[in-house]
Parts: sequence; structure tokens; C-alpha cells
Amino acid sequence: MISGRALLSALLLASACGGGDAAPSRPALDAEVRLTEARDLSPDPRVVEVELEAKVSLHTIVPGAQTPLWTYDGGLPGPLLRARVGDRVIVHFRNSLPAATTVHWHGVRVPAAMDGAPFHSQPPVEQGGEFTYDFVVPDAGLFWYHPHVDSAAQVGFGLYGPLLVEAADEPPGLGDEVVLVLSDLSVRDDGSIVPPQAGGNLGTIFGREGDTLLVNGRRAPTLHARAGQRLRLRLVNAARSRYFQLALAGHTFTRIGGDGGLTAAPVEGDTLVLAPGERADALLVPRGAPGETLTVRWTPFDRGYGTTFNRPDEPLFRVALSDEPAVATPPLPAIARAIAPLDAASARPRALTLTQTEVNGVTQMGIDGVPSWLAPPLLARTGELELFTVTNATEFAHPFHLHGFFFQVLDDAGAPRVPLEWKDTVSVPVHGAVRLLVRYDDRPGDWMFHCHILDHAEAGMMGVLSLSRP
Ligand code: C2O
Ligand code: CU
Repeated sequence: MISGRALLSALLLASACGGGDAAPSRPALDAEVRLTEARDLSPDPRVVEVELEAKVSLHTIVPGAQTPLWTYDGGLPGPLLRARVGDRVIVHFRNSLPAATTVHWHGVRVPAAMDGAPFHSQPPVEQGGEFTYDFVVPDAGLFWYHPHVDSAAQVGFGLYGPLLVEAADEPPGLGDEVVLVLSDLSVRDDGSIVPPQAGGNLGTIFGREGDTLLVNGRRAPTLHARAGQRLRLRLVNAARSRYFQLALAGHTFTRIGGDGGLTAAPVEGDTLVLAPGERADALLVPRGAPGETLTVRWTPFDRGYGTTFNRPDEPLFRVALSDEPAVATPPLPAIARAIAPLDAASARPRALTLTQTEVNGVTQMGIDGVPSWLAPPLLARTGELELFTVTNATEFAHPFHLHGFFFQVLDDAGAPRVPLEWKDTVSVPVHGAVRLLVRYDDRPGDWMFHCHILDHAEAGMMGVLSLSRP
């Protein structure tokens, strides 16, 4: 005889386990890497209103020592902001850092006044100061936020966080989703952070990479899955200078999206590369014996002189397979996004060269030989379509990032690369060039562009595009 109460608790237990298909013994996929979500203060379902405080907070990165990180809301990374396409996002920002800062919404098509570009869209938010960011999120995708004052140092100290914008019509059945913020940090044995200028000129030229790899602020954390279970990894490279090339022996990644949401079609590959600033939306089906643990590795990506030589792979994160037998992987739903190619023939050409010079023994990075602080703004009009040719005259690859607008990258034949996708950051190879097409919509103002190796940006590889109405 089963009592009503026992029956009720059995039912509750079954529903807590997702109707019985999830094994109670298996921890949640993201149990070790779960991000704190910002608390939405608005009762309006189409408004996401949060408070965000930049402040120093102590974290244990090396055992037995405390590291004073610069954080958003005390977390590494900052809280996950979650919105739906068309939502209004209001961020009441407070700066409790010992320095001025701003918040830049990387990849989000905000009005210029909300872009967080110091002196262009707003004065820096001084110590103890506040600023309210208020904008609509028009596009689905994974975006991120980070400071734009002394960005190499401030991002290097821990200031970055993810912003996930979901579409109303997200294709169902892509897999169990997890947001992974990739970064790195250099901490000494006593817990102190290696100074932002460490290594002098050479540090600047190579771009300072932290020696500790982090995924959602943890070292080599473990995701919990079942063999055959499809995972949807939403990745952002938030490191100040490091490229990430992910590999998992015996597996492939299916890349279905990038900076600006889904691509026109999936592409399968052995590795997944994210230059600093880039995002990837990738499917992974872990395979192996029940109980096996797989290791996704960081592998050196050849971004120029000395960047792969003698560098070992490193574990980035692990996927622990449960003891359950492999599950049959459901068929991949059709993912086809209609993206209209931009027409290169009708675009106005513009050429930029990424350069490196030596001035009185100090390395200056620049564009067309001129560092950002001496460069006049580029002028353009809203509504125009431009074809940028970005040439790299240096020994290192540079991830070129344009604020505020998406672009399409062209192939060698001069047509937008297929599968089509919207990007805001693209790696320009050593002694190579990238051509990209950008249409300026009606958001006049000053928009920055720069190398997203932030050491290079701060050394001068940065500029401003001043957009006015015709
Ligand atoms: Cu994430 Cu100015 O960039
Ligand atoms: Cu660079």
C-alpha cells in the first residue's frame, strides 16, 4: 500500500530528475562552471535591468595565496547577462575600482553613446562614479563586456563577462548548452598579479599571455555529460592577448555560429580557433567508454614569429562521461540561417595597414605607421557600404575588431566567405590581408577599431571611425 505522501514525493523526485531520462547520479553539465547570473530588477519581461559594480575582490588562483582581481560584482568572470532579442538592457554601473574605467559591449549594435569608448562616447567613469548603460539588443548571439580604459591591464586583471542574447526562434534540439568564458591570468606564487607592463617591449610585441588558462574562472574544470549527448558550447575568448585553438583527440567540433549569431550553415572541423574577442557556437558529441574523462586541450595557434615553437598543449577543460551507456545522438536539426551577401562591387574601398615601429627604443603599434593618439579619425556616412582591406605588415597576426557594426569577410575571389556569417573581429594573418564589407546603419558617432590583442591596441594599434549622417 503506497501512501499519498510517498506517491507525491516519488512524483516530485521524478520531475526533479527531468522526467526520468536524466540519471540522478550524474552532476549537471555545468555543475563546476556555472556562471552567476545578474539579477533582473525589472518586472517588465522585455526589460533586463541590472546593477553592475566593478571592484577589487580577493580570489584564490594559486593554492594558499589570495589574488586581488579586478572584477564585475566580485566574480571571475563577471555575471552572465541574459536577454532576448529586442529586449531593453539597462545596466546601472558603479565604479569601485582604484582607477577610471568604462564598460564596452563588444559586438552589440548599441547607439554610439552607449558603446563605452572613453572620450568618444562618454567620459571615463571615475573612481566612485556611476553610469547607466541603456540600449536594446537587436541581435541574437553571445556577446561580452569589458573595460575600454587601459584595457590590456584592466582585462588582464579580470574584468570581463558574457552577455547572451537569445532569439525567439532558437532552433530546438541543438544540444545542452553551456557558456564558457575563456581567459588567462599570470599570478606569482605570493598571489600577486604580474604587472601589466611585464616584459617591456617584447611583452608588448608578443602580447602578454597569462600562464594560467581559465574557463569560467577555473583551471581545467570538468563538464559532466553522457557519451553521445550533444553539447552546445557557447565560447568567448576574453583573454587580453591569447589565441585559443581547441582540440579533442578523436573528436570534431561543428561550428554553427560565431560573433554575430548563427552562421548560414554548420562547418565541421578538427579544431576550433578563437582569436581574442571572437566567439564560437560549437557542437560537440563526446564519445568514449562510460566513466571515461576526455580532455579538451589548448593547442598553440601559429600567429607569427615564435608563437608555436616549443609550446606544449595544455588541458583547458575536461568532459567526464557518466557511467551510463552511450545515448543515441539525436539527428542534428537543420540549421540554415538566411544571410544576404553584401555586394563588394558597390562598396567604397578603404585600405588600412597594421604596422609596428620603434620610436626612441619603445615599440609603437599603429595603423598606417601612426599610433592611435596621433591618428586623425576616418570619416564615413551612415547608409554607406565600405570595403576595408586590412593589410598586416608585421610578424604577428592581429585580430581586427570594429565596434558597433558587423561585417562580412571576403574570400580570395572577392565574394563573402561561405558559409556566410556576421563578424565583428577577424584575425589578419602575418604578412597577409583581410578584406571585409561593412554597411553602416543609422547610428552616427565615433566608433573605435583596433587590434584585440589589447597590448597592441594600447601600444597604438587603434583608431576611430567618425560616422555622420549625409
Ligand atoms: Cu572588445 Cu574595443 O573591444
Ligand atoms: Cu595586434
